[in-house]
This record gives sequence, C-alpha cells and structure tokens, in this order.
Amino acid sequence: MSGFSAEWLALREPYDARARNPAVLDAVAASLAGRPSITIADLACGTGSTLRMLAPRLSGVQNWRLADNDLGLLARATAMAPRGIHVATVPLDLNRDLEAALDGAVDLVATSALLDLVSPPWLERLAIEIAARSLPIYAALTYDGRIALQPLDAADAAITAAVNAHQRRDKGFGPALGPTAAPAAIARFESLGYSVMQGASDWVFAPGDREIQMEILGGWASAAREIGDLPLAEIVGWLTRRRDLVTAGGSSIRVGHVDFFARPMGRR
Ligand SMILES: C[S@@+](CC[C@H](N)C(=O)[O-])C[C@H]1O[C@@H](n2cnc3c(N)ncnc32)[C@H](O)[C@@H]1O
Repeated sequence: MSGFSAEWLALREPYDARARNPAVLDAVAASLAGRPSITIADLACGTGSTLRMLAPRLSGVQNWRLADNDLGLLARATAMAPRGIHVATVPLDLNRDLEAALDGAVDLVATSALLDLVSPPWLERLAIEIAARSLPIYAALTYDGRIALQPLDAADAAITAAVNAHQRRDKGFGPALGPTAAPAAIARFESLGYSVMQGASDWVFAPGDREIQMEILGGWASAAREIGDLPLAEIVGWLTRRRDLVTAGGSSIRVGHVDFFARPMGRR
C-alpha cells in the first residue's frame, strides 16, 4: 500500500476517526453552529475522511470543496459523501496552486494528515493566504514524531530515528517539516493573531489491530532502508521480530499526532 493509496486511507480511517481530538472537533463545530449555509475547503482531502468526520457535527446547508491532486481519490470522495452534502471537487496540485483551492467564499479551511508533508515555505504560504482571508483552519492528524512500541526491542530507537529522518524528506512540497510541522504551524498562526486550540490525536493500535500494525511496521522498515544509515540485516531482523509479535497478538503501538483549530481573534 502506498502512502496515499485508497486502500491505505481506508485502513487508517477508523483509527484516524478514533484518534481525532474530540475537544478540537467540538470547537470547530461550535464555531459554525447556527449558520444557515457553510462552505468548507478541505485541502488534500484524499477520499474525504474529514468530510465524513465533520459533516454529521454540522448543521445547515453544507458545501464542501474537496481539493487533491489524485483524481481517483477525488472520485471516491464524491461517491462516499453523505447524502444531502453538496460536494465539489477541485483537482489541483496544492504545491503549485494553493491559492486557487482557497478562492471564493469559504467559511473554514480543513485538512488532515497533510501538514507533516509540507515544507516551511509552503506552510508559510498557507498561513499567509489563510490569514489574508481571515479564515479559520482545522488541521487534524499531523504526525509529531512520537512512536512508542510495546514490548520494547533493542532496535526500536534506531528505526524510529530513521523514520523521523525520512519524514523530513521531500514529499512533493520541498523538504518536509515532518515532526516539527504542528508546533511550527501553531506558532505561525499565533504570530498572525490567531487563537489556537490544540490537542493530541494519537493513533493507538491494540494487539488485535494486526493489519494496520503490519502495514505501519513494513512502511517504517522501508523508510529506514531508504535512509540507509542502518545495516539491512538489522532492519530485517527488527521487522521480523516485530511482525512475529503482531502475529502472536503481543504488540501495541502508539503514534503521536496533533490536531489544532486556529481562529483569527475577534473576527469569527
Ligand atoms: C496522508 S493523505 C491524507 C488524506 C486525507 N486528508 C485523510 O486524512 O484521509 C495525503 C493526501 O495529500 C494528497 N496530496 C499529496 N500531495 C499533494 C499535492 N501536491 N497536491 C494536492 N494533493 C496532494 C494525496 O493525494 C493524499 O490524498
């Protein structure tokens, strides 16, 4: 499964839904309560996970503008949208055409699992464009660099260090912020006069969550191999031991994420 495949997004969605910070979600919903009609621009929407999470918490007429550069994911997002929600797809490359994704009347910018992929200049552009329009932003599920594996293995620290180094590589927006994305974004919005509410949204995989654990561990081993600092035998040994634990129902994993809701102070 690739990082943005429909299969991977479907596998992670229930864990994302459980992880999303409820207080941040409540604050987003409360900020839009009572409006007869709202328009939400969802940046890098994938198959529409944020729409499915947020739409039932909102009232009034909902217009969602779903932006992504993957036409297959956009088609799925449209097909999977709840009834009664107005959905328009915006196929574009957010690295090139971010501004076009924000054009027109928008009440909320939303995004999930995007900010750790972007570069400092792109985050700056996002913050400036959003602040120039005095828009609020709900940014969910930004990876924050914390990985906790149970039981411990001697190679965990070396593998997770390689994973976090890989997170900083270019994901299409220039060298990525990776684990530094959430604090950087929150600090930038605060410096632009925003009030920011944040909360943890960690993935928690219990011993029974075998499929997603297998996928995650394989992805981390591939990332460590690409970084190239560790002997291949060490990576393979680590992956074999960890997957054996998953198969035996003896593995738990927590992966740190952060959600935040940033609002221009005194405007909305
Ligand atoms: C980790 S997925 C998250 C998808 C969705 N927001 C979710 O939480 O399930 C990242 C998304 O970013 C999109 N993406 C990556 N680079 C992009 C770019 N340059 N322009 C637009 N979308 C992009 C991918 O197609 C994918 O849908």
